[in-house]
Amino acid sequence: MPEDVLAAQRPIRSPLAPAMLIGIPSIDKAHEELLWQLDRLMSNPDAPVNSEPFSEVLSQLGLAITAHFRDEENIFKALPMPADLVASHVQAHTDILRQYAQLNFDLMNGMPLGRSGVLAKIREWILGHLLEHDLRIRDFLATPTTAPGDRVEESR
Ligand SMILES: [Fe+2]
Ligand SMILES: [Fe+2]
Repeated sequence: MPEDVLAAQRPIRSPLAPAMLIGIPSIDKAHEELLWQLDRLMSNPDAPVNSEPFSEVLSQLGLAITAHFRDEENIFKALPMPADLVASHVQAHTDILRQYAQLNFDLMNGMPLGRSGVLAKIREWILGHLLEHDLRIRDFLATPTTAPGDRVEESR
């Protein structure tokens, strides 16, 4: 099978498709890790959201997201990025962390949350955020890794 066909069918995690790379190794590595965690949550359909295995991955994910957002903000704040773009990206991180805390609170209080809704929310925090905010970081690197106008579509 040709390499490009394999690439098209490959899961989004590990290694990331080139169109999803920022070009800053530490950020790309963290994104790969987060998408891998997302994959773990999605690939275990028997684990309800209030189960031990699910909350185990969820808490690891929370730590990873928190650390990644801090690192990523330190990096893009040092780039020649317009202040409003920096502010909206930081705000997006803050919103995600607030939603994450709310989700934990709801689960802890036994709120009957559906698995698919919870997963859709987490997917949005990781993949949706990457596509909407993180990829824009590339526009402010000295050597863009992707030609302007390249678009990334969500593949799943
Ligand atoms: Fe981000
Ligand atoms: Fe990110």
